[in-house]
Amino acid sequence: MAESSKTAPLRIALAGLGTVGAGVIRLIEANAALIARRAGRPIQITAVSARDRGKDRGVDMTRYVWEDDMIILGEREDVDVVVELVGGSDGPALACARTTIEAGKALVTANKAMIAHHGLKLAEMAEAAKVALKFEAAVAGGIPVIKGLREGAAANEIERVYGILNGTCNYILSTMEDTGRSFADVLAEAQAKGFAEADPAFDVEGTDAAHKLSILAAIAYGTRIDFASVETAGITRIRAADIAQADALGYVIRLIGMAEEDRSGETPRLFQRVQPHLVPFDHPLAHVDGATNAVVAEGNYSGRLLFQGAGAGDGPTASAVVADLIDIARGDIGAPFSVPVSELEALAPASSGHRLGRTYIRFTVADRPGVLAEIAAAMRDAGVSIESLIQKGRAEAEGEVLLAIVTHEGPESAVTEALRLLEGSASLTAAPLVMQILGE
Ligand SMILES: NC(=O)c1ccc[n+]([C@@H]2O[C@H](COP(=O)([O-])OP(=O)(O)OC[C@H]3O[C@@H](n4cnc5c(N)ncnc54)[C@H](OP(=O)(O)O)[C@@H]3O)[C@@H](O)[C@H]2O)c1
Repeated sequence: MAESSKTAPLRIALAGLGTVGAGVIRLIEANAALIARRAGRPIQITAVSARDRGKDRGVDMTRYVWEDDMIILGEREDVDVVVELVGGSDGPALACARTTIEAGKALVTANKAMIAHHGLKLAEMAEAAKVALKFEAAVAGGIPVIKGLREGAAANEIERVYGILNGTCNYILSTMEDTGRSFADVLAEAQAKGFAEADPAFDVEGTDAAHKLSILAAIAYGTRIDFASVETAGITRIRAADIAQADALGYVIRLIGMAEEDRSGETPRLFQRVQPHLVPFDHPLAHVDGATNAVVAEGNYSGRLLFQGAGAGDGPTASAVVADLIDIARGDIGAPFSVPVSELEALAPASSGHRLGRTYIRFTVADRPGVLAEIAAAMRDAGVSIESLIQKGRAEAEGEVLLAIVTHEGPESAVTEALRLLEGSASLTAAPLVMQILGE
């Protein structure tokens, strides 16, 4: 890099001026001097683009060039980096990302859906073009967890990485816990307050957490992103009764994304799952409430690292976006996934069956004799050892009873087999809800 380009302003263009885009403008304007000192040169916004030019965004847009078509931002001569803050795995965000890299410009994005689906291809393109591709804000918003893994924990083998990756789900679960209210009721309130999207499916069904987990796993293990193999269950089936039951047993319920390398067989495999878990009161993740996110990484030398903070919001997300810009201003191009794409391992997915653990299973059963014996027999035949069995009160529906079982530690495959034996049983009025109990 020429000496002048090391001190000349880093010129950026913003594609998308919504919550995060406007937040990035506010942050760059408010902290301009501090950013310039730390980056070694100013970061200067030159051009912007969104759908509606006339929209009041609470920031003065008149000093920036407006482009109606975001695709051409990267082709402008006065732009070094395009910051994509539109969202969506494909469509204009992906087109903008591709044209930017093809034009030989760096790309910063907060778009987890796009990185989970197309991150490898974009990284290949960026490596070939020798430009930066950075996406710190795509995982856990303002928490510098990608930097934490890529830099701070870079010397470690990561034994397990897991955490609370979706603020909307965590807000809903912790509010259900505090108030005893139902999932539907709390979700409706979260939507009214703007904490949940009008279409909450991506969040509550676990897809958003799965996008983030697949990115984290790739960084932690040096593997190719494999979003399609993330086993994903959301929080829509959790009832107030499950939360009360978990509380009586000494747990809270949290949606946890977890990735582990399984090196027990001849070929290493990658386990990735998003699922509600019972988290013991004394585990650090049990105290992560509201819209907060937290990620635990267990390094073989660092020990347990806990990253916690705001997983969303204009300020925290802008903080992560601008951290990436500062890295680029300093000249850090680096491989987007730490390891060049050609060297990332392609691990086959590991099934959950080999895992040992304790499981919470909630059955919704008909209120009649013999049901308990039928469930106990299935557990016995599958080799599942029951630690406790709780049948409390009646469910909301007439003639329906909730029955919760906590198993002793054993293979998850045994629980799966027990549930298979019970499939089609007239005693069960709905599919059982299965949650793992988070171990130490
Ligand atoms: N919000 C958060 O807290 C957060 C946290 C972490 C990551 N992220 C990620 O950051 C990205 C942006 O999120 P956000 O919350 O800022 O979204 P947002 O408020 O909905 O803003 C999206 C922006 O993109 C523009 N846009 C949408 N579709 C477009 C199209 N077809 N052509 C041109 N412009 C278009 C919109 O233009 P108009 O304004 O003109 O309509 C708007 O300015 C997403 O990838 C999201 O997953 C967000």
